[in-house]
Order: sequence, then structure tokens, then C-alpha cells
Amino acid sequence: MIKKYVKRICSSLFAILMLFVFSACSQQPKQQQTEQPQQNETETQSEVQSQQTVTTVQNNNTFVIYFSATGNTETVANYIADTLNADIYQIIPEQQYTSEDLDWTENSSRVNAEHNDPDFRPEIAGELPELSSYDTVFIGYPIWWGEAPNIVKTFVENVDFTGKTVIPFCTSSSSGIGSSGETLEALTSGANWLEGQRFSSGVDQSDVVEWVNGITIE
Ligand SMILES: Cc1cc2nc3c(=O)[nH]c(=O)nc-3n(C[C@H](O)[C@H](O)[C@H](O)COP(=O)(O)O)c2cc1C
Repeated sequence: MIKKYVKRICSSLFAILMLFVFSACSQQPKQQQTEQPQQNETETQSEVQSQQTVTTVQNNNTFVIYFSATGNTETVANYIADTLNADIYQIIPEQQYTSEDLDWTENSSRVNAEHNDPDFRPEIAGELPELSSYDTVFIGYPIWWGEAPNIVKTFVENVDFTGKTVIPFCTSSSSGIGSSGETLEALTSGANWLEGQRFSSGVDQSDVVEWVNGITIE
């Protein structure tokens, strides 16, 4: 009788043990299944994040703005606008610069007078453009005595750059872009100014295209 009772207890214990083992085995794949998507989700999140923090200029609505007295900067501005299929705006002086005006070797020339008065702001002809629909703004100018001409200062002081990414570019005979971008940036507020790029007066289109395609915005 006792033997039969012990046998029954043993077989019940064995059945409980088997139940345990079985349920433990059947839970294993479930844990793996829930862990896997979590890993994928993390990877996807970081991919999205990096796509959001680093974009190329092509992903943005872009505007190319430039001043050019003798056409060199205009050529570069057109190369940029063509590359990005961007809108373009030329800063045209109310009083156009003649070749006599541009003669820096003549002490009494217009450019010398303007250079000697850094606070002087030449007037711009026509309406200033509205920037609200653009994310990225290229701004180009010739280097005059290592800086942007005063008329470019007139422009940046009278247009709202808030929230824009601004990319300066310039042409020159030999000087670098120097601190001209920083000088303009100091006259604006609320914009993200990137490091600018200098091109030689007769730059090749391919050099401009290569630069534009290599710009990333963080
Ligand atoms: C008034 C004046 C000042 C200039 N100063 C410089 C200079 O400091 N460094 C330089 O390399 N080139 C200088 N240049 C040359 C111009 O930067 C260069 O020719 C430029 O490509 C002209 O651009 P644009 O044709 O768009 O006006 C100067 C030209 C002028 C008219």
C-alpha cells in the first residue's frame, strides 16, 4: 500500500518536472524573437539620426546670391546654381561700378573711397529677395582688400538669415577667403555660417561642382 502511494507521488513529481522542462524550452525562442527586433530598431534609429544630422546641400531648398563687378563671381554663382538647380539672385548696385570706379591704384577712385570708410553702405537697386522659403543660402562676392565689398554688407544687414545655413564663396586674384565670411556673419544673427570657399578668378566648372557636391550640413 505504502509502496503504491510512494510510486504515485514519484510519478506526480516526475510529471511536474517534465512540465517545467517543457515550458522552459518553449519560452526560449520567444525571448530571442523579442530581442531581435529591439536590436534592429536601435540600428534603424541611429541610421535615421545620422541621416538627419548630416545632409548634403541637394536635400535643401537652396538660393544662390552674389555680387560681381566684373563677372568672375557671377560665373561661379551660375555653376553653383546649375549644379543644384537652385534659384539665383544678383546684388546689383544702385550706381553700377565703372572700370574707373574699380581702379584701386587710383587713390581718389570710388572703391578706394568706399574702402576708406568701412561703415559706408552702397545702395542696392530693386527689391531685396525674400529668403523664407530657403534652407540654404550661398553668398558670393569678389575679394576686395581681403574682405567682401561693402555692398555685400548692405545686403546681409537688410535680409533676415534666421534659421538658414549660409555658405560664403568668393573669387580673387590670389588672396584667400580670409575672415570675410566671419565679417559678414557678425552682421547677421540666428544663422549657421559654414566655412567659405575661395575660387580663382578663372576657375573651372568641375572644381566648383566638386566643391558643391562635397558640402555636408550638420
Ligand atoms: C577694388 C578691388 C580690390 C581687390 N582686392 C583684391 C585682393 O585683396 N586680393 C586679391 O586676390 N584680389 C583682389 N582683387 C581682384 C578681385 O578679387 C578678382 O578680380 C575677382 O575675381 C573679381 O570678381 P568679379 O569679377 O566677380 O568682380 C581686387 C579687385 C578690386 C576691383
